[in-house]
Order: sequence, then structure tokens, then C-alpha cells
Amino acid sequence: MNANRNVRWMAMATVILAWPMLTTVAAAQGAPDGAAVYAAQKCSMCHSLDGKGMAKGPLDGVGTKLTADEIRQWIVNPAEMTAKTKATRKPLMRAYPNLPKADLDALVALLVSKKK
Ligand code: HEC
Repeated sequence: MNANRNVRWMAMATVILAWPMLTTVAAAQGAPDGAAVYAAQKCSMCHSLDGKGMAKGPLDGVGTKLTADEIRQWIVNPAEMTAKTKATRKPLMRAYPNLPKADLDALVALLVSKKK
């Protein structure tokens, strides 16, 4: 093999080896999974779903109780929702103002789907 072919072969091998990595990243960015966001943001420290997590804050059936907008407000602006609903449970819910919009959408979609 001469040097030129060697370089070409290495370039091709790099593309082939990197391809699965690139497509995985693209898939992750394309459609975040609500359950993955819920886990990553540690919502289960204060809430439970399907019997897992903090039992004092069950979110099962929240899709029947609240609208998508209300759920979104809880995540973005919990202080206002706490005041509005006169929620007394402590510790108070923290806000997630820096959640990427796609993650927020996926999280809201997950919770809306939790109907009783
Ligand atoms: C530090 C504790 C804490 C964390 C962490 C937390 N929450 Fe909450 N959340 C609360 C409290 C307290 C309330 C008030 C209602 C209650 O008593 O459950 C609440 C209320 C809610 C409600 C309204 C529930 C209802 O039945 O009206 C939703 C929806 C919600 N949280 C979603 C989330 C999501 C999604 C996450 C993660 C991104 C999260 N919360 C993280 C404490 C927390």
C-alpha cells in the first residue's frame, strides 16, 4: 500500500467508525424521550410514577387532573403554581427554566399521557 491509499483508507475507516456515534447523537437531539428527561432531572426525588419514586407526590393520573399548559407551568414556574393551588407540600418544587424546549415538550407529553 502506498501512502496515498493509506490516507484514503484511514479517512474511510474514520467515517465508518464514527457513523454510529453521529447517528446516535442525531437521534438523541431529534426526539428526546420524556421518561429519560424525567429521570435525568430527578423528578422522582419528589414525585412518583407507576409506584416508583417519592410516594407523597404521585403524578399518576396527572394527565386527567391538569392540562398540558398547567403541567408546563408547574415545571417552568412552580412558585406561581404553588401560590395558585395553595400547595403546602415541602420541599417546594424547584423551577426548571433552563430545560431545552424539546426536553420540556417531551416531559409535558409524558405527563399528559398519564391518565387515570
Ligand atoms: C424538591 C421537590 C420537587 C421536585 C424535584 C419536583 N417537584 Fe414537582 N412538585 C413538588 C411539589 C411540592 C408540588 C406541589 C403539589 C404536591 O403537593 O405534589 C409539585 C407539583 C408538581 C406538579 C403538579 C401536580 C399536581 O398533582 O397538581 C407537576 C406536574 C410536577 N410537580 C412535575 C414535576 C416534574 C416534571 C419534575 C421534574 C422536572 C418535578 N415536578 C420536580 C415538588 C417537586
